[in-house]
Amino acid sequence: MIFDELMQIRAKALEQLEKAASSDELSELNTSVLGRGGMLTAILRTMGKLSAEERAELGKRANAVKQELVERFEARRAMLAEEAERKKIEREAIDVTLPGKRIAAGTGALNPLTLVYREIRDALIGLGFTTFEGPEVEYDEYNFTLLNLPPNHPARDMQDTFYVNDRVLLRTHTSPCEARALKTLDLPVRLVIPGRVFRVDEPDASHSPVFMQMEGLVVDRNVSLADLKGTIDSFVKAVFGENVESRLRPSYFPFTEPSAEVDISCSICGGKGCSSCKGTGWMEIMGCGITNPHEIENCGKDPDEWRAFAWGVGVDRVACLKYGISDIRLIYEGDGRFLSQFK
Ligand code: DAH
Repeated sequence: MIFDELMQIRAKALEQLEKAASSDELSELNTSVLGRGGMLTAILRTMGKLSAEERAELGKRANAVKQELVERFEARRAMLAEEAERKKIEREAIDVTLPGKRIAAGTGALNPLTLVYREIRDALIGLGFTTFEGPEVEYDEYNFTLLNLPPNHPARDMQDTFYVNDRVLLRTHTSPCEARALKTLDLPVRLVIPGRVFRVDEPDASHSPVFMQMEGLVVDRNVSLADLKGTIDSFVKAVFGENVESRLRPSYFPFTEPSAEVDISCSICGGKGCSSCKGTGWMEIMGCGITNPHEIENCGKDPDEWRAFAWGVGVDRVACLKYGISDIRLIYEGDGRFLSQFK
């Protein structure tokens, strides 16, 4: 009788085992049959009531059943795993014969930043400038200290900085290249210095944590504010046209004295006053000034012999104004539909 029970447990387990559809279901079944509180264990617990021969016989048969079930469970587990793997591969299959996205020949175009950069650069090369570049990951010393912004100078907060560590940062402007040029080049020089700069800013229509600047630096024995004004006016006209005027407005930068902001007459309304220029007829495009003698001295050159002027223009801002781009983020998204307009 007890042997019949054993055979029933076996038969039932084998039947359910074939029906188990997942490895979770299977291991649940395994526990309910072979586990510590399982059916097979329960039957062995009743051994006490049996005779010695019956006990030996039950032990033998129960072991054989157990053995068989362990093997069958293992085989079923392997089968389910294989099936799951096969289904996964099926699900993730890629049809390599599907046609790809069409890349239409002839829609490629230059980014407006590149166009504006080249216009400014070429106008300046015509005035005897050459290009110079520096690293995007920069020393605090070059980005700030040499430019007359010693540690704890309040004006360091004018630009929110991404620091890599105490001494290294992502440059917040192209001005550290002024220090690199002053330290390493033979003077006099006329330099145009393009590059990406970084500031901690939430991206919105007029802010991007990465944007492009172009620094200008002229170092010579005898330069004046008039030279600065004339140089700036010539590339403003090259980019925006002969009718656009520029003006200098007093401002403050630690690395220039005097310092100024450059405004251009509004390219939208021509100076009459509109919503783009907030009714003033002028739009701000950059900072500039006569280089502070402290910067020249910090970089190892004699400020009594050398004078300099410089500016830092936001290329994105100029591109947005020139082409009427309302959202700076468009410049960085690389959307072909946007870019294909700039041919
Ligand atoms: N570096 C300044 C900025 O990012 C702009 C600037 C550059 C001002 C050079 C200057 C200068 O006076 O000489 O806002």
